[in-house]
Amino acid sequence: MKVQRIAILDYGSQYTQLIARRIRELQVFSEIVPFDISAAKLREDMPQGIILSGGPNSVFEPGAPGIDPEIFKLGVPVLGICYGMQLMSQHLGGAVEPGTEREYGKTEMTTIPGNDLFTGLPEKFIVWMSHGDRVARIPEGFRVSAVSGNCPYAAIRDEARRFYAIQFHPEVVHTQHGSQIIGNFLFKVCGCKGDWKLENWIDETVGKLKAQIGDEEVVLGLSGGVDSSVAAVLLHKAIGTRLHCIFVDNGLLRHNEDVQVEEMFKAKLGLDLHVAHAAQRFYGALAGVSDPERKRKIIGREFINVFAEEARRFKDCKFLGQGTIYPDVIESSSKKNGPSQTIKSHHNVGGLPEDLKFELVEPLRDLFKDEVRAVGRVLGMDRELLDRQPFPGPGLGVRILGEVTEAKVKLLQQADLRVQEEIRKLPDYRTIWQTFAVLLPVRSVGVMGDQRTYEYTCAIRSVNSVDAMTADWTRIPYDTLATMSNRIINEVRGINRVVYDISSKPPATIEWE
Ligand code: XMP
Repeated sequence: MKVQRIAILDYGSQYTQLIARRIRELQVFSEIVPFDISAAKLREDMPQGIILSGGPNSVFEPGAPGIDPEIFKLGVPVLGICYGMQLMSQHLGGAVEPGTEREYGKTEMTTIPGNDLFTGLPEKFIVWMSHGDRVARIPEGFRVSAVSGNCPYAAIRDEARRFYAIQFHPEVVHTQHGSQIIGNFLFKVCGCKGDWKLENWIDETVGKLKAQIGDEEVVLGLSGGVDSSVAAVLLHKAIGTRLHCIFVDNGLLRHNEDVQVEEMFKAKLGLDLHVAHAAQRFYGALAGVSDPERKRKIIGREFINVFAEEARRFKDCKFLGQGTIYPDVIESSSKKNGPSQTIKSHHNVGGLPEDLKFELVEPLRDLFKDEVRAVGRVLGMDRELLDRQPFPGPGLGVRILGEVTEAKVKLLQQADLRVQEEIRKLPDYRTIWQTFAVLLPVRSVGVMGDQRTYEYTCAIRSVNSVDAMTADWTRIPYDTLATMSNRIINEVRGINRVVYDISSKPPATIEWE
């Protein structure tokens, strides 16, 4: 049976992934494709509908991302969002005018009855706008569907050709009824059934993995994080002990993490797991280094070296399994296509040496994080493991500001353990994106008993976020903060001051380095 899908042409908006996610939430399969995809390529596996995402460019810029005009002749419905709307208007004979000022934020929009996209919605509601240019004349065949104070063409449509365009972003939570608008496009306009389910996906994927791998073997780097763990369990379901997992203990893990990973995967789940104890090697390579980017590079490089040494033992394996998920795919493809600025280099695994020529198997490539968690649940994995907060590849290396030493790692592990234990006691613990301790290179004076102390400062960081792109600091109850602080100062020798980080992202980042 052919899976119905929606293709989203990516014009570089930070919200493109959100569009895909909303569609999946409505149980329709969606796929983000590069904006320069040809109509011929799309036709190979014809989508049920096409969405043109927003983007940071102006259609007037030289070299602004365009579209293969043949796409408008495929006969499938098209929904243009923001930049996608302007591009559509320009291509179909309308006119776009350069904006004199950016319209950014919430706006009340008034709909004109009779538009499929707004079926079942009130006449007026709030939408999220973020645009400079705007449509000045709509293409022939189009009609106005909604207006806002600043925007005479907040939404337009050509029902005959099933072309729809909206200036606002239905995918962000600030737009009221956003999911319903997307749902109307999927179900009323494109005729999607909404029968995409994760269970089907698991069966299909296990089948595909069996076919792809055949009698060969797979080696996989297990980090203990959600993605690589679910990838490992899925591969194990497909090929059993022909999957060999390598776990690198880089000495920058959380307290007891190496033991827990071994217990869970080897003892409980029966995976063939090999642990590479390489802490000293990492500490050696990091000695004397305090620049954050250099630390990241060193940790990444050492990881590759250790992993490659281990993987050589499985040289006969044809495949390398990876827990790549959808946002990773998109992130690296937009990095390739556009000059987006590197704020932090997030690459944990670079290229393996030449002699290790594995083919990649990435069973989670199409999924978002919450879908990966859902797959894990269906596969019977521990909730504790699946609900783990994100943990950066360079681990405590980027949470110890300045030089990393074994002694500081031990100190931070102990502080972080207390933060973890206390935060888990909160009833809404699972709604928090990340909570952790950071060791500052600052020492300050304190008093303990009758003694003067001169010890390190620990910062507690806790954020709420939906996608790590933006984040706000968690309003942890004072009592919990007090317990964390008391426990750290009383129980962890070497820290005499605890501070709470109240910066949001942007302008701060979640990690301190
Ligand atoms: P920032 O600090 O950029 O972090 O606001 C956003 C999210 O990414 C995680 N993070 C990393 N993850 N390797 C990773 O695998 C890294 O080098 C890295 N740096 C940050 C961070 O924990 C947060 O969830």
